[in-house]
Amino acid sequence: MRKILIIGGSKGIGEAILLSQLEQNNKVVNISRSETKISHANLEHYNCDILNDELPYLEEVDSLIYCPGSINLKPISSLKLDDYRNDFEINVIGAIKAIQFYTNALKNSKTASVLLFSTVAVKIGMPYHSSVAVAKAGVEGLVRSLAAEWLSSIRINAIAPTLTNTELSARFLRNDKMIENSKERHPLKLILEVNDVADMADYLISEKARALSGQVFELDGGITTIKV
Ligand SMILES: NC(=O)c1ccc[n+]([C@@H]2O[C@H](COP(=O)([O-])OP(=O)(O)OC[C@H]3O[C@@H](n4cnc5c(N)ncnc54)[C@H](OP(=O)(O)O)[C@@H]3O)[C@@H](O)[C@H]2O)c1
Repeated sequence: MRKILIIGGSKGIGEAILLSQLEQNNKVVNISRSETKISHANLEHYNCDILNDELPYLEEVDSLIYCPGSINLKPISSLKLDDYRNDFEINVIGAIKAIQFYTNALKNSKTASVLLFSTVAVKIGMPYHSSVAVAKAGVEGLVRSLAAEWLSSIRINAIAPTLTNTELSARFLRNDKMIENSKERHPLKLILEVNDVADMADYLISEKARALSGQVFELDGGITTIKV
């Protein structure tokens, strides 16, 4: 039984990973500001704001998954410097805080891995994405640096999803027209569901991915790689 620590498992992609890990009979520790809706003998929950609260001590962690993020889309003329700072805080500083705090616990595991989240908007330029793209580019730099620092002691990778159907992206999928337009922009004509992302997360934190570290995987419906 592995011990999986999810920061942000109360909703969205993190919740899908949490459910999948419980189904695989692993222990899950969730840290988020609101309670999870799920109750399970193998699930522990801590109410914490990753940026402001002290984190709970854990002796050993096999995988750490950091889910908090933002999608703050505006032209640069409308973005305040504080928007860039806030996006950097939740996407990068929060991840660094969690990683620093749990490095020893991860090093106590023989199969340790970390999984972070980027976005397709780092690989391809998208209008109005400058703040989130800057922050997630920081996440991608962190992944490659720590992979080199840790080598085989802790593997670290990121998933860079395209638009995924969660609370965070709900305002971009408000009606049928927006949903159709979004599908149309993707060569594979789809919007990601949380289980698409959880399936890839399950693989990357498992020993099946023991040869992978320092990589960012575009989960993109073809949008970063295929031109039709
Ligand atoms: N959804 C998309 O279309 C999309 C696309 C590209 C990349 N991504 C990236 O994928 C990741 C997951 O996205 P998502 O759509 O699943 O997000 P989400 O639905 O907003 O879920 C985020 C999770 O993080 C928790 N969280 C947020 N702020 C927190 C804080 N300060 N302290 C502790 N927990 C916090 C939330 O719980 P509480 O609110 O209870 O704290 C929630 O459980 C993000 O990094 C996002 O940038 C998403």
